Amino acid sequence: MNKYLKHPVFEIISEIIAEKNIQAYVIGGFVRDIILKRPSNDIDIVVVGSGIELANMVADKIEKDVKVSVFKNFGTAMLRYKNYEVEFVGARKESYNRNSRKPIVEDGTLEDDQNRRDFTINALALSLNKETHAQLSDPFNGLDDIKKKIIRTPLDPDITFSDDPLRMIRAIRFAAQLNFNICDEALSAIKSNADRIKIVSRERVNDELNKIVLSPKPSIGFRLLEETGLLEIVFPELYKLKGVEVKKGIKHKDNFYHTLNVLDNISKHTDNLWLRWAAVLHDVGKPASKRFDDVHGWTFHGHEFVGYKMLPDIFRRLKFPMNEKMKYVRKLILLHMRPIVLSKEDITDSAIRRLLFEAGEDIDDLMLLCDADITSKNSNRVKRFLQNFQIVRKKLKEIEEKDKIRNWQPPISGDEIIKIFNIKPSKIVGEIKSAIKEAILDGIIENNYDAAYKFMIRKGEELGLKSVKE
Ligand code: CTP
Repeated sequence: MNKYLKHPVFEIISEIIAEKNIQAYVIGGFVRDIILKRPSNDIDIVVVGSGIELANMVADKIEKDVKVSVFKNFGTAMLRYKNYEVEFVGARKESYNRNSRKPIVEDGTLEDDQNRRDFTINALALSLNKETHAQLSDPFNGLDDIKKKIIRTPLDPDITFSDDPLRMIRAIRFAAQLNFNICDEALSAIKSNADRIKIVSRERVNDELNKIVLSPKPSIGFRLLEETGLLEIVFPELYKLKGVEVKKGIKHKDNFYHTLNVLDNISKHTDNLWLRWAAVLHDVGKPASKRFDDVHGWTFHGHEFVGYKMLPDIFRRLKFPMNEKMKYVRKLILLHMRPIVLSKEDITDSAIRRLLFEAGEDIDDLMLLCDADITSKNSNRVKRFLQNFQIVRKKLKEIEEKDKIRNWQPPISGDEIIKIFNIKPSKIVGEIKSAIKEAILDGIIENNYDAAYKFMIRKGEELGLKSVKE
């Protein structure tokens, strides 16, 4: 383990603690990730004593302009040095009141501190002390659990999870990220304590959900969330996609498992968090638009519009960002059926232009989502759909090269319309502007200023306006 402690920050800490006769260890995720050979730049140092004091001493010794951020309430301090983010914390004995999130904290030994950590694989510590340098402290056989790929809690899981209920989702997040199994005791403790997740802040839950979404095969995490009862609490809209209804011997597919397939599919091609979220949410409008009739069987007509409409409320409630990320996900949901519809029809240039205009910069992401959305078990069907999408892609490329619609804005602005007809800003301005846009997208006029100008004058006259000659 010695070679992993070569970074100058470890040498500085070791020197200081030898001088001051205090004990400190590298602990948690950094040690776990050394063993798993996953690169990590976040170091947690646990000190038998004050974490804040040690952080200040380390900063003084580095002598450069190193800033220590102190979080007094938590008794921790953090500094950045040579690409590493190093957090210092005093060893603690800690437990939480059942109905409060305020911990009762006392100073403790290394072992006390390891006891209160979330999982055995996260309780490993490497000594920075002179006599025991680089020795591994592993009181709960975490090393063995890493080898066996098991998530286990150091204490009775009911205690570990009630200390911090977020750990239930963390267990699932690590299972998804590392492809580990959660041991039976911990899994049943999650099931029986699931309701306690309600006391955890939404922001902390979202951090973990994002990590699940970004894991190599996110369905592992979402299946576990569903199986343990957590999904229904933290993400009811997704939970509602689950289930198969049968009427007159006809059933529809289970949209929850379909969604997970789409998410796994897209995750093979992108690490874009919000594109992955678009995959999670693309069919969220299905439960509300589900219908059955004797002619068509089950249909979900317009589910993309329903999903589009639902999205801002979902984002607000989940405390997801209400900014361009929301608009991006929302747009992909709205448009996700368009390439499928296009590929079934004779593709007209104007339909392609419209799609390019509406998707804009996000057209490639939309096509990725549509590819991922083909989850039929019939491989011929999948092949046929994907081939059709290739035709759509080819057409998109041709039209984009010809008409440059992707980042296009109609050639005449509202201001210009106001000046040319000498009118006040009003509804009619928008009407003329949108008529020009539609005419270009439909291929009625060419995409240039002169054609748009002529069209505008004609349209204005139709509406009883006269242009003011300059
Ligand atoms: N920890 C804990 N309980 C929590 C959160 C964290 O016991 N609810 C402990 C674990 O020992 C963990 C360490 O604090 O290893 C650091 O937490 P964090 O940085 O959130 O996670 P990492 O394990 O470092 O993993 P990652 O970097 O992937 O988030």
